[in-house]
Amino acid sequence: KGLITLDSGYKNTGSCKSAITFLDGEKGILRYRGYSIEELAEKADFLEVAYLLIFGDLPNQEQLDKFHADIKKHSVVDDDVKKILDAFPKSAHPMGVLSSLTSALTAFNPESVNVDSEEDMYNAIVRLIGKLPILVSWTMRKKMGLPLYYGDSSLGYVENLLKMMFKQPNEEVYTQNPILIDALDKLLILHADHEQNCSTSTVRITGSSHAGLFVSIAAGISALWGPLHGGANQAVLEMLEAIKADGGDTKKYMAKAKDKSDPFRLMGFGHRVYKNFDPRARIIKKAADEVLGDLGVEDPILDIAKGLEKEALEDQYFVDRKLYPNVDFYSGIIYRAMGIPVEMFTVMFALGRLPGWIAQWREMRLNKEPIGRPRQLYVGETERAFKSIDKR
Ligand code: CMC
Repeated sequence: KGLITLDSGYKNTGSCKSAITFLDGEKGILRYRGYSIEELAEKADFLEVAYLLIFGDLPNQEQLDKFHADIKKHSVVDDDVKKILDAFPKSAHPMGVLSSLTSALTAFNPESVNVDSEEDMYNAIVRLIGKLPILVSWTMRKKMGLPLYYGDSSLGYVENLLKMMFKQPNEEVYTQNPILIDALDKLLILHADHEQNCSTSTVRITGSSHAGLFVSIAAGISALWGPLHGGANQAVLEMLEAIKADGGDTKKYMAKAKDKSDPFRLMGFGHRVYKNFDPRARIIKKAADEVLGDLGVEDPILDIAKGLEKEALEDQYFVDRKLYPNVDFYSGIIYRAMGIPVEMFTVMFALGRLPGWIAQWREMRLNKEPIGRPRQLYVGETERAFKSIDKR
């Protein structure tokens, strides 16, 4: 009692007990509720995985149908939200817009603020899962100068999302591309949870004050935005573009990444927990090859990424520090092949992470966890006498 242990960055500090996601960084194992990420990415769809994460088990058909129907019922956003979106400049970063709009939704859904019973929680959860894809698509459509669109409730969750994002005003019939549906489903599943990372801890700690679900998620979106976390997917693509524009000299960028006087880092490399490989990165690398092949896209950026990965895996600096490609290294290449603008990449990550954030928030509330309140080691001045302004 009274003794404070300092652990900057919480490298060895557990913040909670959790039954949601198991992660073994040495062996490269990731499981949601006991199911391997490899199997889920292959066999499940995103909504099933969302249900699994939030409620603890894979749904049977009846449970899944009810969950989907409840989500569809709430797949609307108050028309006034458009006015808020209108007020942002087109140049605004979509992550800032998404976080603001998610927070603003609270004003239009006051019943989702004080959610103490399981039923209130459920209602807030299906509301948010219904509404976030609309905000995501509006954010992208604003960026691209397209009229806003409300979606098509006859479609599956991911199909509807794609239609909301890509439907053109002059297109009578929107044709679904199964390659894009599969690719997006897989990407969203791979991003759906990752235990107590920066944004998830933000969601739990925000919610621990009994702030509502929507604002807790808005806080998580803000935390995800940073380039050391979800923002890395945008930063990777910008880095690969810069290398290409600079003549494709990967060695020059490897040297920069190793130079301690240079702030440059190899984006999409390294992880706090994975020290052998990131299982998500393996699946995504294979998917990038398949999706680009299926879509008939030849992207020189993919070759630069593979070259960079090969060099890094053989380089002593990266070997010594156990730095491997992470989930963000190849995901942007798939998003780009799908026609998603680079500034939207982290927004796609946020939509994928939504079920994980929700599951963690719900677990924290159901476990009646106390308010999150870390301590500190004070290293400032000891007591000082006040000096009037003329004596300073
Ligand atoms: N490029 C060059 N050097 C690196 C990199 C990198 N990407 N990552 C870590 N290092 C070095 C770092 O300089 C340090 O070296 P030294 O021991 O000589 O001082 C050593 O490796 C350990 O790094 P750290 O910063 O202490 O490790 P951390 O656990 O605090 O940080 C990380 C983890 C992911 C923030 C970091 O590896 C990084 O900045 N990577 C690039 C950004 C990135 O790809 N982020 C996405 C992470 S995965 C998905 C997600 O979280 O959203």
